[in-house]
Amino acid sequence: MATPTASVWTLEPHTRAKHDLLRLYLGAWYPIIARYETRVLFLDGFAGPGIYKDGSPGSPLVALQTLLEHNALPDMGSTQFDFVFIENDTERAARLQEEIEAIGALPPNIHWTVNVSTFDNVVRGMTAAAGPSERSVATLAFVDPFGVKGVDMDAIAALLQADKCELFMTFMVDAVNRWREHDGVTPHLDRLFGTQDYRDVSGHGDLVKLYEEQLRNRVGLHYVRSFRMIREDGHTVYYLVHGTRSEKGVEKMKEAMWKVDPDNGAAFSDRLAGQVSLFVDGTPNVRQLKAQLIAQFQGRVVGIEDLQRFTLIETDFLPSKHLKTAVLKSMEECGELEVVNAKAGRRRGTFPDGTQMRIS
Ligand SMILES: C[S@@+](CC[C@H](N)C(=O)[O-])C[C@H]1O[C@@H](n2cnc3c(N)ncnc32)[C@H](O)[C@@H]1O
Repeated sequence: MATPTASVWTLEPHTRAKHDLLRLYLGAWYPIIARYETRVLFLDGFAGPGIYKDGSPGSPLVALQTLLEHNALPDMGSTQFDFVFIENDTERAARLQEEIEAIGALPPNIHWTVNVSTFDNVVRGMTAAAGPSERSVATLAFVDPFGVKGVDMDAIAALLQADKCELFMTFMVDAVNRWREHDGVTPHLDRLFGTQDYRDVSGHGDLVKLYEEQLRNRVGLHYVRSFRMIREDGHTVYYLVHGTRSEKGVEKMKEAMWKVDPDNGAAFSDRLAGQVSLFVDGTPNVRQLKAQLIAQFQGRVVGIEDLQRFTLIETDFLPSKHLKTAVLKSMEECGELEVVNAKAGRRRGTFPDGTQMRIS
């Protein structure tokens, strides 16, 4: 789809999948973060009009409604939730304002503003004026531009300095790849990446890797994971990139990704939208996980906790879903794994906390 010029446009299947990921992740993030924080910020940097042609909600409404309809909302009353929506198009911003006002009165701990400005301007203003308490506010920044302009690595780094800050962002890899040698666009790409190294890189995979690396090194988001969005014609349009410093955050985002893509937890294709999973029994192909575990731990004695952490951080798989029954149990059954230490009474094929094993 060409970049829309109207104030409201058609919702494409991959945009719906993006909203599903956002909804699923926020559904997990709100109650976890509210348990520890008295103030939380959701910043939607490229907010849009809040509604699509078919009446589906845009990202600001997805974020608000996920909180307002959350079962745990009554337990989150002592946390203040601030929603900052930034939209530089006056008509879209006005429509967004109307859509949010139509929700009606919100609980007193939920505040929102629509800023008619650019992402970079608002973030620069906020971070320049921020005192130590503002700088430490737990923030989830959703950064969802149409293209490659207006997203500055320095602004993201300034916004997400504090430990509990996270990023969920649309990285328009196809546009980057297409325009990376175009003089008029390279200044925007320099700011997007925060380096000129992309000029020596080509191909989607390596460009995404470089961007992920920059988020780790320049912003300090230790864990960065991307989810691919594929158009009807099979072409990759963008990656959704999640960055966090929290292992819990990695787990919750991977759970969301596996719900949206039950086969691989890594991509959504418009062509396959609405079709059932390839794996009819709901078990994805875990051969890759087994191979990664063998490559990493072969011949060594290793604890179940190390295997769980490795699976979470270093692979596409989920420890809670794919490790014990799908891989370790069958490895033990066929003699590829020997349990060397476990609590008394452990049943074969189970791996309670403290279990140690050797992978052969
Ligand atoms: C991809 S759309 C956002 C869609 C919305 N996040 C959603 O999921 O429903 C990008 C929006 O960003 C706005 N925009 C473009 N440049 C901007 C900038 N520099 N700062 C803020 N908003 C911008 C556009 O007008 C457009 O409405």
